[in-house]
Amino acid sequence: MKYDRINSELYISNRAKFSAQMQQGTLAVFNSNDIYPVSADSTMPFQQHRDILALSGVDQEESILVLFPNASNPAHREVLFLKETSDLIAIWEGEKLTKQAAFETSGIKTVYWLQQFPTIFKQMMAEATGIYLNTNEHLRGNTEVETREDRFIKKVKQDFPAHQVLKSAPLMHKIRSIKHNLEIELMQRACKITEAGVRRLLGFIKPGVWEYEIEAELAHEFLRNRSKGFAYTPIIASGKNACVLHYIENNQQCKDGDVILLDVGAEYANYSSDLTRCIPVNGKFTARQKEVYNAVLHVKNEAEKLLVPGTIMAEYHKQVGHLMEEQLVNLGLISMEDIKTQNPDWPAYKKYFMHGTSHFLGLDTHDVGLWHEPIQAGMVFTCEPGIYIPEEGLGIRLEDDLVVQETGAPFNLMKDIPLEAEEIETLMNA
Ligand code: GLY
Ligand code: MN
Ligand code: MN
Repeated sequence: MKYDRINSELYISNRAKFSAQMQQGTLAVFNSNDIYPVSADSTMPFQQHRDILALSGVDQEESILVLFPNASNPAHREVLFLKETSDLIAIWEGEKLTKQAAFETSGIKTVYWLQQFPTIFKQMMAEATGIYLNTNEHLRGNTEVETREDRFIKKVKQDFPAHQVLKSAPLMHKIRSIKHNLEIELMQRACKITEAGVRRLLGFIKPGVWEYEIEAELAHEFLRNRSKGFAYTPIIASGKNACVLHYIENNQQCKDGDVILLDVGAEYANYSSDLTRCIPVNGKFTARQKEVYNAVLHVKNEAEKLLVPGTIMAEYHKQVGHLMEEQLVNLGLISMEDIKTQNPDWPAYKKYFMHGTSHFLGLDTHDVGLWHEPIQAGMVFTCEPGIYIPEEGLGIRLEDDLVVQETGAPFNLMKDIPLEAEEIETLMNA
């Protein structure tokens, strides 16, 4: 792990929240992700399943967490099963968590080696009436790959058909949507690393630079600050490429007079930051570019004020649509007539602003969360309006990460990252 050890209070607190919501006499199991293969003997870098991470901090493959708050054996109320290590194994396979390190990481006292799982789990299940299984219920989750968690679920249902099956996902969405202070600190650190990357770029971007060279600068800055790298595949899109929302080729040369849209964020300790800035290749926006830039900035500033306790996200997105409508009319991109005759299911503004404004952010970039409940303090959202005008070869999106407060405006974790058009110009020409 490149990151500093995290205070185990975070995991102790998250497990207490989960256990408090479990039905009497039940247990819950959380599995690591697999290490996914490429081909031959190569593998993708390991990415831990976000739920076992949120509940234990164990960032290691082939780990299992069991929570059984009413277990008759007090030692079995919280148990970790880990891949066995020893001094000898460490020589051949590298460092893995020892039982002591697993305790220091997670605060869990009972740690067994993985080969003991079948026997001990059978004993625990004999005592339990039901089991919480951890299905992926992210609203946009969509993959054909069977995860380790999926395989476990299949096996449990086969081996223990008489047990009640309950869902972990709603409990985890609730816990993960409201961030602990320790998590806010980690997310702040991720944002600070992203800031270092952006500042590095302001002196680097010039006409003729290639998009992938910008990507390389960011990767360098992120890694030297203890990040694994990008929290998500970076979008470095100059000129008209900025109008392709998921442009990830990053293989074009940046031309004098174009604007580059950078949707890039560092991860830190598996927490995402998610930033978008738009930068003039030659250090100076044209009047039209600045006009569109400031229209987006206005929508962003106004939208952020709505991220307060009590707001309903569906309502928020409608209000942001109205803010955008006004700006697009001012820019001459849509007319009042277009608005009057628009299809309510696809309003006129969507021609130039076709994506959502905000999403939950945390261990996943598009984090799980309580989408249909009023916003609460401690939730973290992005705010990312944009205007995309392919006919002008221009796309502007501005995105920051915001923590909802008990009262008043949200706290901007990216408040120190240059945002105003003039500030960006000044720094590029310093
Ligand atoms: N970078 C992904 C997003 O902005 O949602
Ligand atoms: Mn983004
Ligand atoms: Mn985003």
